[in-house]
Amino acid sequence: MWAIEAVDLSKTYKGTNTPALDRISVQIEKGQIFTLLGRNGAGKTTFVRISATQLLPSSGTLSIFGYDVKSNAKNVRELISVVPQEGRPLRVLTPWDHVYNWLKIRGKRRHEAKLITENILRRLELFEVKDKPAMNLSGGMKQKILVAMALAVDVELLFLDEPTIGLDPVSRRQVWSLIQELKKEGKTILLTTHYMDEAEILSDKILIIDNGRTIKEGTMKDLRKVISQNIRVDISRNSLELESLKSYGRVVETGTNSLRLFTFESHLKEIYNLAIKKNISISISPITLDDIFISLVQNKNK
Ligand SMILES: Nc1ncnc2c1ncn2[C@@H]1O[C@H](COP(=O)(O)OP(=O)(O)OP(=O)(O)O)[C@@H](O)[C@H]1O
Ligand SMILES: [Mg+2]
Repeated sequence: MWAIEAVDLSKTYKGTNTPALDRISVQIEKGQIFTLLGRNGAGKTTFVRISATQLLPSSGTLSIFGYDVKSNAKNVRELISVVPQEGRPLRVLTPWDHVYNWLKIRGKRRHEAKLITENILRRLELFEVKDKPAMNLSGGMKQKILVAMALAVDVELLFLDEPTIGLDPVSRRQVWSLIQELKKEGKTILLTTHYMDEAEILSDKILIIDNGRTIKEGTMKDLRKVISQNIRVDISRNSLELESLKSYGRVVETGTNSLRLFTFESHLKEIYNLAIKKNISISISPITLDDIFISLVQNKNK
């Protein structure tokens, strides 16, 4: 049985003409970290909200462990936990109140709820501020309260809609490690993010959507095939002639002072020698999900 199965799922919001989701079909395996990627307005949150029974689809179906979100919302809700996009903690409640009360609501007994609350607050470095009202905390700390609440409850499926937005690099990694532990316990995670490094590190599978439609689905290995070359070289603009670079691979715009060349290892020696001869610095790295994403959403109409 699939953790999530969408069949021809569509959603058009009232008062709009263009669908936010347009016949999305996807099957998500239990125990996987599945990531939805897409530009602003692509339809990611719409998909998450339908899956989490917060919004009804216009047509098509979506089921969570076999339960239809429309007709079996109650069963679905018992199996899931959500970090909503742009959620806000309650101003006067503390991090402790938020997590502890939430665990009590979700059926934990007092003693266990206390242990879990302390553990998660420590893991996210919120323990020091556990008794401060949320309104006196920083933006990132408020976001971490929402993450702590969602990750604390013991459920089969977690919806994390941009969970690490606004978090510092250390805090982001703390969240990543919690997510990876949940996966080890067999939980399924549906993640959305605009951080391509996060998606690359965490995801078992990625679905890229644009204008509510599927653009590409697969593992990182599958997605790497989108760009035939495997190396990228960044070169400061005007230091080498564009035409000469083109013979080594594909030159892409970066919108910065440098040009990016997608190329193969076999050309590196030559490019390197050229750079030394012309006395310019170049930087060489593997092609990342960032490159693949940009290439896919820019080429979608071609
Ligand atoms: N409540 C709403 N009423 C009308 N249109 C909406 C509503 N919520 C979202 N939309 C529209 O649906 C489309 C998809 O929005 P959605 O929030 O799902 O995008 P997203 O991929 O989550 O974007 P982001 O990365 O910015 O969070 C957008 O065109 C948006 O304007
Ligand atoms: Mg969103």
